[in-house]
Formats: sequence, C-alpha cells, structure tokens
Amino acid sequence: MEKLLIKGGNSLKGEISCSGAKNAALPMIAATILNDEEIIFRNLPYLQDITTMFELLGSMGANISLDESMDFSICANKLTDLEARYELVKTMRASILVLGPMVTKYGYAKIALPGGCAIGSRPVNFHLDALKKLGASISLENGYIQAKADRLIGADIVFDGITVTGTENIMMAACLAKGKTTLRNVAMEPEVSDLADFLNLMGAKIKGAGSELIEIEGVENLNSTTYTIPADRIEAGTYLVAAAATGGEIKINSIQPERLNNVIERLKLAGALIEVNTNSISLNMNNKRPLPVDISTSPFPGFPTDMQAQFSVLNALADGESIVEENVFENRFMHVQELNRMGCNISTSGNIAKIIGVNKISGAQVMATDLRASASLILAGLVANGETVVDRIYHIDRGYERIEEKLSYLGADITRLPS
Ligand code: EPU
Repeated sequence: MEKLLIKGGNSLKGEISCSGAKNAALPMIAATILNDEEIIFRNLPYLQDITTMFELLGSMGANISLDESMDFSICANKLTDLEARYELVKTMRASILVLGPMVTKYGYAKIALPGGCAIGSRPVNFHLDALKKLGASISLENGYIQAKADRLIGADIVFDGITVTGTENIMMAACLAKGKTTLRNVAMEPEVSDLADFLNLMGAKIKGAGSELIEIEGVENLNSTTYTIPADRIEAGTYLVAAAATGGEIKINSIQPERLNNVIERLKLAGALIEVNTNSISLNMNNKRPLPVDISTSPFPGFPTDMQAQFSVLNALADGESIVEENVFENRFMHVQELNRMGCNISTSGNIAKIIGVNKISGAQVMATDLRASASLILAGLVANGETVVDRIYHIDRGYERIEEKLSYLGADITRLPS
C-alpha cells in the first residue's frame, strides 16, 4: 500500500488553483443517466471516487470517453444492466446517487444497500422515504434496494433530516416525474445548487436550489450540454488551514470565496490575515501560533463537517483550549487517536472534542481512516518535528487531486512511497 512521507517544519508559501469539486461532480455524473444525449464535463478532478463512479456507470452500459483536451464525455442513453453491485457500492457510498436517476428514467433500479462507514452508520432512509412519496415501490432484500415505478409522480415532500445526497437524488428523480415536486427541509450546500444549475442547463425546471425549498416541474426529457465542474471548496479550505497551521502565506485561485465564509471567519479568529477577492483568497499567518477557536459543525451555511478534522489540527497547535462539536456525523473523531500519538492533547466525549493546544508535535507513523481524517494527519505531519508516515492513503486519493504535488509546490517536504 502506498504511503506519504512528510518531513515537517516548512511553512507553506505560494499560489495554487483548486481542482473541480468531487462532491459536485459525483451527482452530475449520476445525472447523465437522465439524459438521452452526450454530456461533456470539463475540469473533472482526477480522483478515485470519480473513477469509481465511471466504473459504476460503465458496468451498467454507459459510454465514457476522454478527449485530447481532457474533457470527459458520457452517454448513458442505453443502460443495459440496471444494477449497482455491492463490489462497487461498498467502496463508495455516493453510488446511491444513481438510484433516483435510474428509477425515474428506466422505472427500475437495484442498488446494493450501502453499509456503515468510518464516520458513522449513514443510513439512506431519507432517500427511500422521499422516493416512495414520488410513487416508487421499494423493497429491501439480500442487501439490495429494489425500486420500481411506472412513471414517478410529483409530490410535496418534507425531508425528516437534512441530507446532501438525499436532496440531490430526489431532485434528479423529480426532473422526469410527472407534474410538480416540492422539496422542503433540503440541504443548501453549494453542490446542490451546482447540480440544479447543471440539470437546468439540460432543460430541467428547478427553482430554489440553495434555499430551504426546491420546486421542480417535471419535463419529458433532457438535452445535451457541456459543463465545467466548479472548484472544490473543501480542498481550498484544507490548503488554507494547512497554510495557517504552518504559519505560512498562500493564495488560492479559481474559487468561489463566498462558499467558504464560515471557514474564513474562523481562520480570522485563529489569527490569520485574510484577503478575499472575486475568485481568490489570500491568507497570511505571519509565522504566528494560532489562537484557539471553538467550532460546531452543521449543514451549509454552517461550519462544514468536511473541514472539522483539519481545523482540529489548527486548534491542537493553538495557544489555549477549544471545543469542537461534531453535529453531522456520529463518529467523526477517528483522527483524534492518531493526532494524540503525534503529541496532540485532544479528549473526546460523545460528539465533543476538548482540545488543549500544544506548542510542538512530533512525527509518527499514522493510519488514515477516512478522507478528511487523512487530510488532518497530513496537516499535522507538515507541522511536526521529524518524519511522519501516513499509511492507507487510498483514502486521500479519493478526494484530493495530486495532493503531494500541490503541497510540494507550496514548499512542503512530502513524498509518495511506493507500496
Ligand atoms: N442521514 C440519515 N438518513 C439518510 C441520509 C442521511 O440519517 O437517509 C444522516 C447521516 O447519517 C448523517 C446526516 O444525515 O448523520 C447527514 O448526511 P448526508 O446525507 O447529508 O451526507 P451524504 O450526503 O452521505 C455528503 C458528502 C459528504 C459530506 C456530507 C455532509 C457527497 C458525495 N458526500 O454526504 O462528503 O460530509 O454530505 O456535508 O456529497 C467527504 O467529502 O469527505 C464527505 C464525507
């Protein structure tokens, strides 16, 4: 298994651009199932999760190709196998995103039920309840969800809890349903709005994405389009926190800064000087030790759970104590034990982590457990005295494009060790 070797102590300095957002791209690739024509994607990130989604669509009969300008084209108009098998679903829970598009387009879907994962049990009951309200009949057998429908019929749906992929799944299903669907208590994440923009470009009629209520008027079919995947706000946030933790100075280009307002505010409280321009954010930590900042995760526009582990590293190095509250996932503190092995002082109780900042941490061999936990271990390695080896980095390759190249470019001493 490949590993990352980091020799800590260098401040990050310089400018980088962000890659396309994984969590925007995944539902859009699933949405190609709704379409009879070819869709072209620009700026798709080269990530394991994207490859898995391609494998899934490919296994069902979609045609996927890459042209000389690195644009991907997908034509999913003749799916022959309406099944998402366990072998693929178990490696990526976001596979559930094909459920809504398959049922609404083909009237049938068989999808392996995703199990729990390192950050919590992560059920899909909100997806299934909403799909039933659109008229699908759903059964669970042998670890698979089977959904059937003649044609879905628009409905007024209130989600019992806020779910990002659930909102996306049902928004996609409602695009080809008969009549009007209203979705309430939906996720307001920017990736939901991006998906609505993409679907509307193909001819869907969606209003209100990005707010608490989404209205969708069903259409008969969708048209071909070309779409550029927007920049990854979590990748941008991760590099900003990495620069702050190392006392550095960086500029992140090609992003939509307003998507990071909550993270920017907390970085300012941690002592960073931040300048926001239309498409970029500059951060200067002036070699200072960070100040402790309490954080409490919640759905957008709150502080993102996907930035919790990274910000915990900043707090672990701060001059003082802080409290980190995880409110989205039940078990998202797997990084804590590994960070403590590097000398951090973090104790957890339920969904609360109490962090007592330390002046120094030391390199160690650590194990990645999920995507954002891996990012936090890399951040800690950048600051630690001596060498850190991060094992099981396939987690990081799921969501950060060329991370060691980008960090090296910013001055980090980081190398990928072959397996
Ligand atoms: N939940 C339920 N029932 C459901 C759906 C969700 O109880 O049917 C619960 C979950 O267990 C969790 C909470 O609701 O406690 C929120 O889960 P959500 O459904 O919003 O998460 P998701 O859609 O599975 C997406 C991102 C995650 C990100 C979360 C929260 C994608 C592909 N994944 O997951 O991204 O953490 O929203 O913002 O968009 C990551 O990129 O590292 C990542 C985990």
